Formats: sequence, C-alpha cells, structure tokens
Amino acid sequence: MSFDLRAYREALGCFPTGVAVVTAPGPGSPVGITVNSFTSVSLDPPLVLWCMDRKSSRHALFGDAQVFTINLLGTDHKEVSSRLARPGEHKLDGIALLPTELGPPALADSLAVFECQREQTVDVGDHTILIGRVLRFSRPSQSAPLVYFGGKYSALAQGKPPEGVSGRRTTDDK
Ligand SMILES: Cc1cc2nc3c(=O)[nH]c(=O)nc-3n(C[C@H](O)[C@H](O)[C@H](O)COP(=O)(O)O)c2cc1C
Repeated sequence: MSFDLRAYREALGCFPTGVAVVTAPGPGSPVGITVNSFTSVSLDPPLVLWCMDRKSSRHALFGDAQVFTINLLGTDHKEVSSRLARPGEHKLDGIALLPTELGPPALADSLAVFECQREQTVDVGDHTILIGRVLRFSRPSQSAPLVYFGGKYSALAQGKPPEGVSGRRTTDDK
C-alpha cells in the first residue's frame, strides 16, 4: 500500500451511509452483524449486496449461510448496532425480533427488511461480497434512519422515509 491506511479510511468515511444488521441462521440460534456496505445491485432480478471482512470472526457463519435477512436500522437501533459491531458479539439474545418466512429473523422496527437467498459470493481483496436475491421485503417502521458518517453515528437533519408498502417476490414470479 502506497498511502496511509488511516487517512484512506478517513477519506472513505466521508461517504455517509445508512446502517444495517444482517442476520443469518447460525449454528444453534441466529446471528447478526452490523454493516454499512449494503447496496442494491439489480432491480430485475432483485439483487442486493453487502461486503464482509474476511478477517471477521463471523466470516464462516455468514459466508456459508444460504439465506440472510438485511434490516435497515433507525435511530432507535443505535445501541443494537453498537452491540453487534463489537468483536465476537454475534448473538441476538434480548434484541426485539420478528420471525420471517425465510428463517433469519428481522429486527423489530426496522425501516426495511429484505429476506434474501444467497445468489453469489465473490472473494475480492480482504473482503467477500455477498450477493442476495430478495425474495420478500417489508417496511415495518417509518422512523428516521440511522446514519454513519466520519466514523460516528449520525442522523438526518430532517426527513423520515416516504410511506411505502411491503412486497413479496419469489423466484417463481415473472
Ligand atoms: C457502522 C458500522 C458498519 C460496519 N460495516 C461493516 C461491513 O460492511 N462489513 C464488515 O465486515 N464489517 C463491518 N463493520 C464491522 C463489524 O460490525 C464488526 O465490528 C467486525 O466484524 C468485528 O467483529 P468480528 O470479528 O467479531 O466479526 C461495521 C461496523 C460498524 C460500527
């Protein structure tokens, strides 16, 4: 690397993002991780991705998962987000959850929930890109989004997400 890694990370942190928790089945009980690398890849077919550090102690848990649920967090999820970002803290005990049809639970009061079937994983550099096919989505809460900017949690000065409807799409749909 020819430049200062810390300065590089700080430059990347100038891009404000939302915050998500991804849940997966886990060995006995479901597991979660805080991420901000979520993005939409394709509308038709509906594909989304997130990236996972290959050094993460949770890499095998999520890298092997055939299904995962992506939960977009609101400002009230700040503590949950901090907890699931702590090294080794992957259990969901005590967190308010909702069941999903696919299996990995949704976090209650998420702004949006995407139930995904693993489509493809790509190891690139020190991360793995996990691409999921969205089979179902919902909009449980209309609260304000949790924002991450400059290495800190933040919030929008104003603005809740527009009202919306939940949807369902299966691989059988045309
Ligand atoms: C706001 C925020 C966003 C994060 N985004 C990612 C991410 O997109 N991918 C990732 O692998 N780790 C991400 N992390 C780090 C993980 O949440 C976790 O801290 C890391 O995996 C270390 O713990 P582990 O080794 O037990 O997995 C993020 C952390 C925070 C606080």
